[in-house]
Amino acid sequence: MVDNKQITVTSPLLPNLEEFSVLLRDIWDSRWITNNGSFHIELEAALCKYLKVPYISLFTNGTLPLLTALQALRITGEVITTPYSFVATTHSIWWNNCKPVFVDIDPATGNINPDKIEAAITPRTSAIMPVHVYGKPCDTKRIQEIADKYGLKVIYDAAHAFGVEVNGESVLTAGDLSTLSFHATKVFNTIEGGAMVMHDAEMKKRIDYLKNFGFAGETEVVGPGINSKMDEVRSAYGLLNLKQVDVAIEARRQVAIRYRKVLRGVPGIAFFDDMPGVRHNYSYFPIFVDAEKYGMTRDELYFKMKENGVLGRRYFYPLISSFSTYRGLSSAAPDNLPQAHKMANSVICLPMHHLLDEKDLSLITSLIVRN
Ligand SMILES: Cc1ncc(COP(=O)(O)O)c(C=O)c1O
Repeated sequence: MVDNKQITVTSPLLPNLEEFSVLLRDIWDSRWITNNGSFHIELEAALCKYLKVPYISLFTNGTLPLLTALQALRITGEVITTPYSFVATTHSIWWNNCKPVFVDIDPATGNINPDKIEAAITPRTSAIMPVHVYGKPCDTKRIQEIADKYGLKVIYDAAHAFGVEVNGESVLTAGDLSTLSFHATKVFNTIEGGAMVMHDAEMKKRIDYLKNFGFAGETEVVGPGINSKMDEVRSAYGLLNLKQVDVAIEARRQVAIRYRKVLRGVPGIAFFDDMPGVRHNYSYFPIFVDAEKYGMTRDELYFKMKENGVLGRRYFYPLISSFSTYRGLSSAAPDNLPQAHKMANSVICLPMHHLLDEKDLSLITSLIVRN
């Protein structure tokens, strides 16, 4: 192991501590620490501008906006989704007393395969919840066409898609609602945090009520809300991080360029290239190991890296549909999800963050390239 240092899969973007102290002093002076304070309002406005979206509502993490989106749209019955995601996607459906219906993924992107959606629609289906996995945009046009044909709502779990654009437009404006995670592991973080993007002021108002117990004013509760408000400390932290997120994304892009240069042509190792017309955020760098061609299984490589201080992550393995909580669902049957299984069984997300240096990258790639 080099310098006994472990190279982690990610490293959080942190604001400058002195600048943060100044904002903390403002919060202390005002004694307004949560409930739609001035930093909360300022961060919402700054994010709308940065993300090119009309309305946004901040949340305390990326799971509660998923729960709240289903609640706000009054989704019932069955929700079509992908098994190739973080478990929170499916949990949000279950918490709303709806039934998740898993549909296989497109191996070219890792996202739900639009060609497979229609076969999963039943009279009980009311929504589709796709995920822009690794920040790679779903085929939003095709998904919307299907949703319109069957009168379904579309809620995108865009936890990975901060700042992602297709032909200059934010991917976050697709569908009815999109949700983001600002968890420490994400490209843009507020330590814990998240948001929901919506199209109109009416929906923004409804979501703002729902994230504050459903309160509409002091004496009225208009829905079964939850408590998911972002506080002032994390809003201020977010404002500072937003100022440096582009620099971090560019650093990540350089890491991706380096990985692709060294790993292209290594037999049995595959990865995604950038998609034309897409502004990527380089949130993850997954590689896919074909054991036969590579001469080593995914897990053998994963543990070899780990023994040498390189901590990749097997995102997303196991599939959500393989967890005991969900594997009893008929749509969770492995033969319904062959591509998702294949991807889950071959993936390793390599370390990807703005602080990786030449030495780190040489070590990581030297462990993968086989002589
Ligand atoms: C795809 C996806 N959805 C939802 C979440 C939940 O976000 P959070 O951890 O902020 O609650 C995560 C993240 O961690 C995620 O990766």
